[in-house]
Amino acid sequence: MAEGTLERTLVLIKPDGVKRGYVGEILARFERKGLKIVAARLVQVVPELADRHYAEHQGKPFYPSLVQHITSGPLLALALEGRAAISVVRLMIGATNPQTAAAGTVRGDLALSMTQNLVHASDSPASAERELSLYFRAEDYHAYSRSDEGFV
Ligand code: CMP
Repeated sequence: MAEGTLERTLVLIKPDGVKRGYVGEILARFERKGLKIVAARLVQVVPELADRHYAEHQGKPFYPSLVQHITSGPLLALALEGRAAISVVRLMIGATNPQTAAAGTVRGDLALSMTQNLVHASDSPASAERELSLYFRAEDYHAYSRSDEGFV
């Protein structure tokens, strides 16, 4: 029986993840879970894109360090697809603060800093639609079957 709506979500492996050499480690977790990579792009985020992406945080005390970090080097932008992908990915990355994120999550296992917390993932269907459109065009998406689709 199929369970959960098929969703797409945006995941960013932030510049600290790229520079620390954790792209493979983080991506492997999502692949093992059964999520399908439907688009991927290494992006140097410019301040204008950072402002659009993080518009809801503008004016907050941590905003300058957030923009400084996200523009500090290339990040890997991913569109992941799967059943209930948005909530599943959020569970897998863990709480925003890596010091309180559960063990077993990306942040809980691999990070200590709130700013350099390795990953970002969309938190709702509306956010996913908005954020995916910032990083990907319609032609960037790929349709294919994974060999384990009958099990996930
Ligand atoms: P992210 O999931 O990318 O969404 C917004 C980011 O802002 C968040 O991860 C953190 O990196 C950062 N952030 C959120 N709250 C704080 C905070 N209180 N102090 C510093 N950084 C924060």
